Amino acid sequence: MKINHTDLEDLLKKDLETCSKEHDLQQIKSKYLGKKGHVTILFSSLKDIPSEERKAFGSELNNLKQVITKLIDLKFVDIKRNREITQRLDLDTPARHHQFGSHHPISLVIRRIEKIFSNFGFETHEGPEIETEYYNFESLNIADNHPARDMHDTFYFDSNLLLRTHTSSVQIHAMENRSAPLRVLAPGRVYRCDSDPTHSPMFHQIEGLCVDTDISFSNLKWLLNDFIYKFFESKKIKTRFRPSYFPFTEPSAEMDVMFNGKWLEVLGCGMVHPNVLKNVNIDPKKYSGLAFGLGIERFAMLAYQIKDLRVFFENDINFLEQFENLRES
Ligand code: DAH
Repeated sequence: MKINHTDLEDLLKKDLETCSKEHDLQQIKSKYLGKKGHVTILFSSLKDIPSEERKAFGSELNNLKQVITKLIDLKFVDIKRNREITQRLDLDTPARHHQFGSHHPISLVIRRIEKIFSNFGFETHEGPEIETEYYNFESLNIADNHPARDMHDTFYFDSNLLLRTHTSSVQIHAMENRSAPLRVLAPGRVYRCDSDPTHSPMFHQIEGLCVDTDISFSNLKWLLNDFIYKFFESKKIKTRFRPSYFPFTEPSAEMDVMFNGKWLEVLGCGMVHPNVLKNVNIDPKKYSGLAFGLGIERFAMLAYQIKDLRVFFENDINFLEQFENLRES
C-alpha cells in the first residue's frame, strides 16, 4: 500500500490555516501524531506491508512524521509570537497607573492655615532662614543674657550669623518692608540644637502678626479661637489662654486646646511689645499689634493623628502616599 504523503500534508496545512489558538493546535497535534492519530495509524499498518516493501514504506513514514512534526512546531512558534504582538498592542489593556506625587502633610497644614487667615486679610510673607543676631533676637527685645541665645539652642555660623530659631524674626522684616497697618503670616523652617523623638533640629512654624490702630487682646483671643474652630472643624472644641512670657509680647499668653480630656499647648501669642514696634519705627502710641507663633508639626500631628514627629522627615513613600487624596480645605 502506498501512502499518500501529499494528501496528509495538505490536510494538515488546511487545518493549520484556520487554527489560531494553542488549544486548537494541541488537538490538531493529537489528530495527526496522537495515539489514534493519522500518522500513528499508518505506522501500525507497517506490519501488514509485504516485507520487501516495508523498509521503503517505513522510511517514507518517518519522513512524513518529520514533516508533520515540523509544521506543527512552527505553528506553535507562530501562535506564540502572534500572542505576544497582540498582547503588546491590545487596546483593551487598562491604562497603566501613573504614580502622582502628593503634598507633604506639613505643606497641607501650612496651606490650610494660610487659607483660614487669608479670610481675615493676612498675607504670606517669607523671611530668610539664615539670620543675624539682630533679627532673630535683638530687634525682638530678647536681651543679650536671654537663655534662647545660648549656644545649646541656636546653630551659629559665627558670632553674628545663625539659623533662625523662630519665625518671629519675619515680624521685623515684614514691618520694615510694609510698615503699619499690616497683617502677615510667615510660615517656614526653623532650627534648634535639639533632637529626640519629640524634637527635631529642623521644624516648621507659622508666625502671625497684625498691627493696626485699636488692636486689643480681645481681638487676639477671638481671632485665635476662630482659627482653632476652623482648623479642627468644630465649634465645640475647648480652648484656654494661660499667662506666659515672651520678650517680644506684653502681655503674653499660651493657648491650650482640650483633646481627649487633656489640655495641650498649641501656640504662643501676645500683644506686640512697644519696644519691638519702636525698633521698626512704628509709633506704639498710634498702633498696637497682636502676634502669635505656632509649631506646624504639632498641628499636623493633631490633624492627622500622627504619634511620632520623625515620620515627617523620613520621606517614607508609604507614609507620604496616604496624603495623596486628602484635599486642602
Ligand atoms: N517665637 C516663639 C517660639 O518660637 C513663639 C511665639 C510666641 C511667637 C508668642 C509669637 C508670640 O509671635 O507672640 O517659641
